[in-house]
Amino acid sequence: MTQKNCYILGIESSCDDTAAAVINNGEILSNVVATQAIHEQYGGVVPELASRAHQQNIVPVVHQALRKANIDKNQLSAIAFTRGPGLMGSLLVGTSFSKSLAMGLGIPLIDVNHMQAHILAHFIKTEEQTAPNFPFLAMTISGGHTQIVKVKDYFEMEVIGQTIDDAVGEAFDKSAKILGLPYPGGPLVDKYAQKGNAKAFKFPKPKVSPLDFSFSGLKTSVLYFVEKEVNKNPDFISENIEDICASLQFTIVDYLMDKLKNAVKKTGIKEIAIGGGVSANSGIRTALKEAEAKYGWKTHIPKFEFCTDNAAMIAIVGELKYKTQNFAENNVVASARMKF
Ligand code: KG4
Ligand code: ZN
Repeated sequence: MTQKNCYILGIESSCDDTAAAVINNGEILSNVVATQAIHEQYGGVVPELASRAHQQNIVPVVHQALRKANIDKNQLSAIAFTRGPGLMGSLLVGTSFSKSLAMGLGIPLIDVNHMQAHILAHFIKTEEQTAPNFPFLAMTISGGHTQIVKVKDYFEMEVIGQTIDDAVGEAFDKSAKILGLPYPGGPLVDKYAQKGNAKAFKFPKPKVSPLDFSFSGLKTSVLYFVEKEVNKNPDFISENIEDICASLQFTIVDYLMDKLKNAVKKTGIKEIAIGGGVSANSGIRTALKEAEAKYGWKTHIPKFEFCTDNAAMIAIVGELKYKTQNFAENNVVASARMKF
């Protein structure tokens, strides 16, 4: 089969987004995501509710992806699905569905590592984005992950740093919750931060080894700081929300940039690709642009729809693996702690 008429369906269900996408020759024809609103009222993802919502959403989402791509399921060349890492109950829904569909259609099944997919999303063809050159450093920053990976080739990747506790998105979301903001609070912190003074308050940067991250202490220091100030002035949060958010965001962004600088120093690689929901943050975007001018880095941030959890990134990995006939066995199982 030529690349031209190769259509791959990607399916993602590792956390709280049920997503399906169709790719053809590097181009995304459809990219559908059903985000599960049910978790908002709990202030975080509830695994049992996530798997139930995947069950409800997966068939309509796949239908919509095929319709938007304007193809019939019989035209599909292969099904690519997220095998892990992620929540087991959520992964099982996508895995079982993908296996059944591939078997029903008599086409190959391709298993995809979600973390590799966040990185390989940079190779989706769009007018706005240019693919990074190998070797490059990839920093994946989201509500579920925080890591720096040395990428030597499409499937030759080495994790050189990662969080030892919370993910950076959790640091945003949990701090936002302390400030009384709804879940997920990251985008709201960003919004308020843009109007505030980043030097108004000082939060400590957690100390761990040069390439690793830690965020749980930051959340605690925000909690103690807010409690102390609210005791003195009950309106402290509402009167200072912009400055608190700006100071918090400044600390987190500065910390992420410190880690990237350490990684560049260690590897000598100055080409950097960012992925994950936190890449939408205005502070990190500005800091990266500044680093291009200041340190001669080349930075890449994909379109937002390819940064957050999505199936387009699963589909591009599917296409890359399809080229080398790298297919999954029929007895493949979901893997919550899947490594590279
Ligand atoms: O990649 P994603 O959609 O899902 C996973 O967690 O895998 O990332 C969601 C995370 C949430 O923690 C959310 O608060 C954060 O990304 N986020 C942001 C911004 N937009 C999304 N954090 C800070 N600033 C933003 N603008
Ligand atoms: Zn993710």
